[in-house]
Amino acid sequence: MITQRQVFLQHMAQTTSFPLSLEIERADGMYLYDTSGKKYMDLISGISVSNVGHRHPKVVNAIQLQLEKYLHLMVYGEYIQSPQVQLAQWLSKHLPEALNCSYFVNSGSEAIEGALKLAKRLTGKTEIISFKNAYHGSTMGALSVGGNENFKNAFRPLLPDIRILEFNNAEQFKSLSVKNTACILVEPIQGESGIIPATKEFLSVLRSVCDENNCLLIFDEIQSGAGRTGKLFAFEHYQIVPDILCIAKGMGGGMPIGAFISSHQNMHALTNNPMLGHITTFGGHPVSCAASKAAFEVLEQEALISIIPAKEKLFRTLLVHPAIKEIRGKGLMLALQFDSFERNKKIIDSCIENGVITDWFLFCDNAMRIAPPLLISEQEIHEACAIILQAIKQHC
Ligand SMILES: Cc1ncc(COP(=O)(O)O)c(C=O)c1O
Repeated sequence: MITQRQVFLQHMAQTTSFPLSLEIERADGMYLYDTSGKKYMDLISGISVSNVGHRHPKVVNAIQLQLEKYLHLMVYGEYIQSPQVQLAQWLSKHLPEALNCSYFVNSGSEAIEGALKLAKRLTGKTEIISFKNAYHGSTMGALSVGGNENFKNAFRPLLPDIRILEFNNAEQFKSLSVKNTACILVEPIQGESGIIPATKEFLSVLRSVCDENNCLLIFDEIQSGAGRTGKLFAFEHYQIVPDILCIAKGMGGGMPIGAFISSHQNMHALTNNPMLGHITTFGGHPVSCAASKAAFEVLEQEALISIIPAKEKLFRTLLVHPAIKEIRGKGLMLALQFDSFERNKKIIDSCIENGVITDWFLFCDNAMRIAPPLLISEQEIHEACAIILQAIKQHC
């Protein structure tokens, strides 16, 4: 009889020739269990999604309640659907006034697409500025603004009028004309470059450049949002508010959903010239919205965010070894820097073998990702770090 593994390899499109291929049967809280019953601690949250843990009971309950009412009813934006309305209300209560209107979509990439379209429509301009080693998604528009040439080259021509600048270089804006620029798109904490936080000075300059040039500042918080960095959204660390905020991943509590968020006035532009300026069949699916609101409430009610700095500190205190060149990041969005991909991969493979799942980054293959569910306990941090250190000792 053909095994699941064979079907996976033969009848499912592969994205690499070396898929991890763990066969997971169930997941719960911090842990995944494979078909042989082996238990793995999840240090990556698949990726930065399971912020409230796998199958949090309150998220599961919200999904079940919604299943009993309705599934899909109509394309996004026509009917008044309570799960969407309640999620929009929760977000507007927890975000600044300038971000009081949400457009729900299916994914992070689609949130970026919607934000770029909105910026072009509002400014009437065409140029988009983004940054080296940024990752904004895999659809054509999101790929066009990505900051890694290797990742893009095979798919050209991409969107025209994209300028990719140096991340964290505020100086370069002194001699730069942005009069044709519709928007500047930036991750406040870059994820796939190996976790690089923006400096406050850099984001302040971006804010001023946008203010002075009728240009919109877009923050991609698809990876850094939903509590991961010790604030609900990372921009709160900087006290700099974007014109458009893109979120996805962790907001769904494990269900697929994203959003681009701006002011009611800005969003109104999507209703005219042309009307239906962005449309989606499944965006804001009622079950995903119900799960998302439950996940945000869990973050709030279980006070998962305020204790993140202490958890970050514990990781930083325990993970000390000469082979660890640096620990970068904020909260539970961390990278352990090693000296080579070969060493990093060996360490990661040993960790997985010993029951701790981690990986490297899309554009930084010599650093290890630490992005566990936010509910990881002190005891579990000790256990995870012991396994990581043991793997490091084995390979260094
Ligand atoms: C910062 C950032 N932006 C956008 C995306 C794309 O999101 P999605 O995979 O949901 O399309 C990702 C995904 O990893 C991301 O990390």
